[in-house]
Amino acid sequence: MLASCRAEGSQADIHPIRDAAVAWKDGVIKWVGPESRVPAQYHSQQIYSAGGCVVVPGLVDCHTHLGFGGWRADEFEQRLRGVSYLEIARAGGGINRTVAQTREASDETLLDHCLQKIGAMIRLGVTTVECKTGYGLSEESEMQMLRVYRRLRERQPADVAVTFLGAHVVPPEFESARGAYIDLLCDTLIPVIAEQHLAEFCDVFVEDTAFSIQEARTILETGQKYGLGSKLHVDQLRDGAGASLAAEMKAVSADHLEYTSEAGIAALAEAGVVGVCLPLATLYLGQQPMPARKFVEAGVPIAVATDFNPGSAPSYDLPLAMMLSCTMNGLTPAEALKGATLFAARAIGRESVAGSIEEGKRADMAVLDVKDINDWMYHFRPNMCVGTYIRGLPIA
Ligand code: NIG
Ligand code: FE
Repeated sequence: MLASCRAEGSQADIHPIRDAAVAWKDGVIKWVGPESRVPAQYHSQQIYSAGGCVVVPGLVDCHTHLGFGGWRADEFEQRLRGVSYLEIARAGGGINRTVAQTREASDETLLDHCLQKIGAMIRLGVTTVECKTGYGLSEESEMQMLRVYRRLRERQPADVAVTFLGAHVVPPEFESARGAYIDLLCDTLIPVIAEQHLAEFCDVFVEDTAFSIQEARTILETGQKYGLGSKLHVDQLRDGAGASLAAEMKAVSADHLEYTSEAGIAALAEAGVVGVCLPLATLYLGQQPMPARKFVEAGVPIAVATDFNPGSAPSYDLPLAMMLSCTMNGLTPAEALKGATLFAARAIGRESVAGSIEEGKRADMAVLDVKDINDWMYHFRPNMCVGTYIRGLPIA
């Protein structure tokens, strides 16, 4: 069985084809359909067999904080002992602690970390990864991470979409001068990043310990002026009206959404913004799960991603996040699959090239040793991916 995951229909429509075949040339899909109807011109070409396994589009992890220095396992223990994520952040831990460790890391250390993690993701069936900055938070350190991501794009086969998250939190040296930090983002960093084509998107963390709605609007408007698409971290720890801002700004995605109001959900549906469900972060922080089913019923396309980072989601296992989006957020396995493929591609502006097995798209596919999609998510095992194809080449 092959799940093509074309856009038509609802979140649950993954458009399966039995006994399927795919033909591609130069990494681009030319034909997909039942094996019995493969056009004659493709008969004598090189053939790869999926050995009766299930084939899905290469998975798209549309929300990661891939590049960072150091881990925070001690904070994991502190939270288990009852100290909250925000209390840890206010006491100098959390994001700012990773900022300190990232600023100390060399280009090579950061690149090695990214290459190692992305290699492991590819073995899970992931072929496209969004990578955010946001642990540098100074001109020097943000630019360093962006340059590392540029090398990462060249050094391994997965597609990498880069998001500038200079507005993750206000770094300590600007604590009493937040306006000056926002000026640094808007007047210096965004223009330079856009000019050097170092990022495609601009993201802001809207939260009490991070940025306000008005600050986020200013930063995203500047990003848009310089051609960067908008993404937002919103309503993660409380309803901060961030979903409505995402709709107003015509963001490509609004991510987290644990506490989004009914009005926020309606606004996302109306504006066609993809809602990104991040169950690993919800699970690790013990938050209330984002009601994904409610979003789907309201007409919001829901993507599923890992949010891989050293604090709230220290795992890059996208199939695990998909399984949790079923058990915690109420998606069906088919809906989770469309969320980690087509809608995830939409959330990073890649829908025309990735996210489904269709003519004209990249031949990015994952081969799974499972009976069907329900079996994959239900009988959850360490890694059921037995083959990852990127631009038509078997990679793992
Ligand atoms: O997406 N919410 C903000 N940022 C990350 C967490 C970052 C961290 O804890 O280091 C997130 O959950
Ligand atoms: Fe995040």
